[in-house]
Amino acid sequence: MLSKNYTVHGTVRNPLDEKYEHLKKLEKASEKLKLFKADLLDYESLRAAIDGCDGVFHTASPVPPTSVPDPEVELIKPAVDGTLNVLKACCEVNVKKVVYVSSGAAVAFIPNRPQDRPMDETFWSDQEFCRSNNHWYCLSKTKAESEAWEFSKKNEGYEELENRLRMIVDVRDLAEALILVYEKPEANGRYICTTHLIRSKEIVDILKKHYPDYKYPKKFTESKDNSSLTSKKLQELGWSYRPIEETLVDSVENYAQNGILE
Ligand SMILES: NC(=O)c1ccc[n+]([C@@H]2O[C@H](COP(=O)([O-])OP(=O)(O)OC[C@H]3O[C@@H](n4cnc5c(N)ncnc54)[C@H](OP(=O)(O)O)[C@@H]3O)[C@@H](O)[C@H]2O)c1
Repeated sequence: MLSKNYTVHGTVRNPLDEKYEHLKKLEKASEKLKLFKADLLDYESLRAAIDGCDGVFHTASPVPPTSVPDPEVELIKPAVDGTLNVLKACCEVNVKKVVYVSSGAAVAFIPNRPQDRPMDETFWSDQEFCRSNNHWYCLSKTKAESEAWEFSKKNEGYEELENRLRMIVDVRDLAEALILVYEKPEANGRYICTTHLIRSKEIVDILKKHYPDYKYPKKFTESKDNSSLTSKKLQELGWSYRPIEETLVDSVENYAQNGILE
C-alpha cells in the first residue's frame, strides 16, 4: 500500500518492540506510515487507529504456532470480539470499505470433505466439528468470519441521507419510449424521458414496506434543490409508464437474483 502511495495506519501491540523495525524501513514509510499501539480487545485503541481512514484491512488475529492452554480466552475471544471491535469502529468513523482476511480454516473443516471437487467460497467449516476435534484456530476464524457477516448485514447502509428529489425511469419504460419515438411519424425534436419525481424518503418507505429486513438510513436531511425535469411532451406522444412501486420492487428482486444485494 505504501508503494502505491497510500497513507497507512498500521497497528502493533508494542511499538517499542524491535520486531517492527522492518516496517519503518519500507518504501515511503517515513512520510506515509504511522504505527498505532492497539490491541484487538481494546476498542478505543482500534478506533484511534482507524479514525481518518477511508478503508480498513483487518488481518490481525491470533495465529498460535502450537496449541494454547485456554483456547476460548487466547484464540476465540480476541478473534471474534476483536473483529467486532474493528467493524464497530469502522462504522463509527464512517470507513468506506473493509477488507477482512479470513482463512481456509473457516472453509474446509467439515466432516466428509468432498473428494471429487475443490471446495469454494460456499463452504463453511463446521463449528461443532472444529470444537469436538480441538481445531481451535479453525473455530476462531470460522466464528469470527460468520459474526463479521452478521454484523455487516445489520450495519450496512448510510446513517443519514439527503431527502433529495429524484427522477427515476424504469429501464423497460425507457425502452418503450425509444421505440415509440422511432415508430411515431409525428415524433420530432427533443424528448425528455423521466417519470417519477420522488423523494429519497418516499423510496425508502416503499422499500421498507416490501423488505423490512434491509438496513435503511435512520435520518433524512432536507434538500434545498427542488429542480426537476418533465416528460410531458413524451406522454403527449402516447408514452405511459409503470407505477414506481413496481420499478423499485423489480429492481431489488433483480439485484438479489444477480448477487448485487443479499
Ligand atoms: N499464515 C497462514 O497460513 C494464514 C492462512 C490463511 C489466513 N491467515 C490469516 O492471515 C492473518 C495474518 O496471519 P499471519 O499468518 O500473518 O500470522 P501472524 O504473523 O501471527 O499475524 C497475526 C497478527 O495478529 C496480531 N494479533 C494477534 N492478536 C492480537 C491482539 N489481541 N491485538 C492486536 N493484534 C493481535 C499479531 O500481532 P503481534 O505481532 O503483536 O503478535 C500478528 O501481527 C490472520 O488473520 C490469519 O488468520 C493466515
